[in-house]
Amino acid sequence: MTKISTSTRNGIGMPLVGFGTYQLSVDQAESCVKEAIATGFRHIDSAEGYQNEEGTGRGLKAAGVSRDDLFVTTKLFPGYKQWGAPEKDFQQTVDTLKKQLGELQLDYVDLYLIHAPLSELRLEQWSALEELKKSGLTRHIGVSNYSEKNLQEILDANLAKPEANQVEFHPICARADLTGYMKKNSIAPIAYSSLAPLSTWRIEEGQGGEVLAEIKEECQSVTQEIAAALNVSEAKLLLRWGLQHGYAVLTKSSKPERIRENLDLFDFEIPDSDMARLNQINQNQAIAWAASGINPMEAAPPLN
Ligand SMILES: NC(=O)c1ccc[n+]([C@@H]2O[C@H](COP(=O)([O-])OP(=O)(O)OC[C@H]3O[C@@H](n4cnc5c(N)ncnc54)[C@H](OP(=O)(O)O)[C@@H]3O)[C@@H](O)[C@H]2O)c1
Repeated sequence: MTKISTSTRNGIGMPLVGFGTYQLSVDQAESCVKEAIATGFRHIDSAEGYQNEEGTGRGLKAAGVSRDDLFVTTKLFPGYKQWGAPEKDFQQTVDTLKKQLGELQLDYVDLYLIHAPLSELRLEQWSALEELKKSGLTRHIGVSNYSEKNLQEILDANLAKPEANQVEFHPICARADLTGYMKKNSIAPIAYSSLAPLSTWRIEEGQGGEVLAEIKEECQSVTQEIAAALNVSEAKLLLRWGLQHGYAVLTKSSKPERIRENLDLFDFEIPDSDMARLNQINQNQAIAWAASGINPMEAAPPLN
């Protein structure tokens, strides 16, 4: 097994544990991003769709850490006809990142992603990301919620290969084929919603964590047993499981003690036998977007 330490980075120089900002208000984004950086996080994950980038920008600034030491990702919301959200063309994609940089108070981001393959214009949007990389407004470009088919579509069009793909990844949703495809093509894997199997995941009013609660029970009985045997929390076990699969992991909390806990993943290892037990739980069942009624990985409309 590759030795994983606090300083290990993936193929695009990304610190392996990132702080996520979904479902934080603007004010919470400011205080939690500042707190996360003070705790030691150097990788922050944002998105146009989170509607809090102004707060994230204030938090980044207030943290007082050199820009060179931070790895900041953000995402383009591509538009989605079924939600009545207009699809962005080339120029609108370029303009969107410029607007986001203003809110984040940054000159560039380290990684810019198409949030999901929800638009018929996704190849045009991808060409715009190539342009944004050339102009230095982002250091790296990638996608999120792209299946093998959607990744292959980009390669078949002879466009630049995505450098990363951010996907839901936890023992109930492990997608071994996609993970293998990304490894074969050197596309850096980034996990989101690693904590979705927990009973404490998104439990506040309106966060949508109650969906598919029944399918988490089997996973919870296994994580409880293994976490107790290793003397770690279930949250740490789930995050470490992602790391041991070669993923960078993202984790969000509004609570300082959990922000600390979620970065503290480097002083234990999950034995192979327990990794195998956790791997057996897989149902390729996406949970994170379920409350909004779609599985983004299966929602791509035909190309325009
Ligand atoms: N690309 C995409 O489509 C996509 C989709 C979803 C997420 N993401 C990114 O990935 C990040 C992480 O995913 P996520 O927001 O689903 O977060 P997560 O880290 O998997 O789970 C967060 C939830 O778990 C709770 N929690 C956090 N730490 C905990 C701990 N140590 N013990 C017990 N409960 C804990 C949090 O509650 P408290 O806040 O109350 O602590 C919150 O309800 C997002 O913030 C976002 O940046 C991307």
